[in-house]
Amino acid sequence: MPFKPAPWPRRLRSQEWFGGASKDAIYRRAWMKNQGFPADLFDGRPVIGILNTYSELNPCNAHLHDLAQRVKHGVYEAGGFPVDVPVFSVSESGFRPTAMMFRNLAAMAVEETIRGQQMDGVVCLVGCDKTTPSLLMGAASVDLPAIMVTGGPMLNGYYRGERVGSGTHLWKFSEAVKAGQMTEKEFLEAEASMSRSPGSCNTMGTASTMASMAEALGMALSGNAAIPAVDSRRRMMAQLTGRRIVQMVKDDLKPSDILTREAFQNAIRTNAAIGGSTNAVIHLLAIAGRVGVKLTLDDWDAWGRDVPTIVNLMPSGKYLMEEFFYAGGLPVVLRRLGEAGLLNRDALTVSGRTMWDEVKDALNHNEDVILPAERALTRSGGIVVLRGNLAPDGAVLKPSAATPALMKHRGRAVVFEDIDDYKAKISREDLDIDETCVMVLKNCGPKGYPGMAEVGNMGLPPKVLRKGITDMVRISDARMSGTAYGTVVLHTSPEAAAGGPLAVVRDGDMIELDVPNRRLHLDITEAELRARLAAWKPPVASPSGGYAKLFHDHVEQASTGADFDFLKGCRGNAVARESH
Ligand code: FES
Repeated sequence: MPFKPAPWPRRLRSQEWFGGASKDAIYRRAWMKNQGFPADLFDGRPVIGILNTYSELNPCNAHLHDLAQRVKHGVYEAGGFPVDVPVFSVSESGFRPTAMMFRNLAAMAVEETIRGQQMDGVVCLVGCDKTTPSLLMGAASVDLPAIMVTGGPMLNGYYRGERVGSGTHLWKFSEAVKAGQMTEKEFLEAEASMSRSPGSCNTMGTASTMASMAEALGMALSGNAAIPAVDSRRRMMAQLTGRRIVQMVKDDLKPSDILTREAFQNAIRTNAAIGGSTNAVIHLLAIAGRVGVKLTLDDWDAWGRDVPTIVNLMPSGKYLMEEFFYAGGLPVVLRRLGEAGLLNRDALTVSGRTMWDEVKDALNHNEDVILPAERALTRSGGIVVLRGNLAPDGAVLKPSAATPALMKHRGRAVVFEDIDDYKAKISREDLDIDETCVMVLKNCGPKGYPGMAEVGNMGLPPKVLRKGITDMVRISDARMSGTAYGTVVLHTSPEAAAGGPLAVVRDGDMIELDVPNRRLHLDITEAELRARLAAWKPPVASPSGGYAKLFHDHVEQASTGADFDFLKGCRGNAVARESH
């Protein structure tokens, strides 16, 4: 059904706070006027919350104040009333034990920030990995008109003439130091080249992936994802976004009109085409859960299978987001999907137009960055979903970042009971391991770590690295940074700390990974597996209090998005009227 705009003018939600001459209305307006807002701003025009994830401890978002000003210009130009509203900002590079533990907290805070206050629509100003999904989740659960604008990626890094990709080169250089191919002094010198400008990671890591997901879902204006943070067109995009949200409020164009199953299909195929992060799997499952769209892990596998990875960006490829932008950015990819019959062309976007209307004229300016199909990095770029007795509810692998020769592999398990056990053992020369082994890391899932840290791409043992080996099969219930690479099986569900079979793998067990047949198998008898599981005891008790307890007791497994069980669904924007 095509979208039908609501009639305008009409009384908006914000007038429940600001409209009329009651004591309550005067109280609300009078207090706001201490900021010098003229009276006519309260006359019934759309009030737009600029949900700002600015924080100096979230360096990827530290420049968002500037963009917020641009959004404000746009809102004023279109006749709205913009208000800058700081919201919980989850920093990937800082938060302990891991940023993922706070995605749901941020989403919950954002949801209540919107619902409880006098807003008619929101602009989500995001950037770093978790800020994009958390604001999308919160906004989807309230379902007021919402639009995303991301902060944009950092400029390319260079070290001694070589492109340096955020995260990707951190892992590469770190392994090179362990292998004796780089000195610590050189590593420190390279550090200075990693972050040349404001912005989020410049690889196709999770931040760039989620910016692309927001655009592919139709929740951001076309072309938003790739514009570098410091490019003047980023500021222009913010201003245009501010203009657009005002009309969205007038039309009552809401997330639930845009976030359909077809939109998620577009996003999942886009993720395959860009070689996007495995973290998108968890985030999109969680966002779909907020709008009540039925989306499963199996959809990821089925929808991504026929999609080649054509974006030649690290960690799967060679270039960085800056070059992706110069090549034409995400609209080119979406157009290519459309031409291949892999895009729901009629999917609605925040512009009020269809996805196809937005991208059909996009031009590719560099065929080495956005590759022709015959030169694709991987013919089947979608996220692989593995099942078997080791992952009854599924596990994921990103083929574009993996080694083709390891896609079918049988090896002896070398088990690390948790991340501390891994750190204690990995560099020991007497560790019984070689490149044919399968590294198994337990207790790093949602409950186990807690928070499901990005440790699944555990570094290889130095004695293997010194042989010039760069990849081994690794299996865990953890996540992996979107900037990382390797033949890494992730999100194994149920996780070890919840009693999944991963918990009972022992040193010396044989494990079979069979990507073409989507199989992950622990080669022991069923009776033996049952006996081990019966003897298993949980390694961690529920914390005694605080957010850690809420998280432990309510987080779901990665296979369904790791949201809190009580936050799923859309609760709308109605609030009980309060009075003083
Ligand atoms: Fe913030 Fe990568 S650490 S985007």
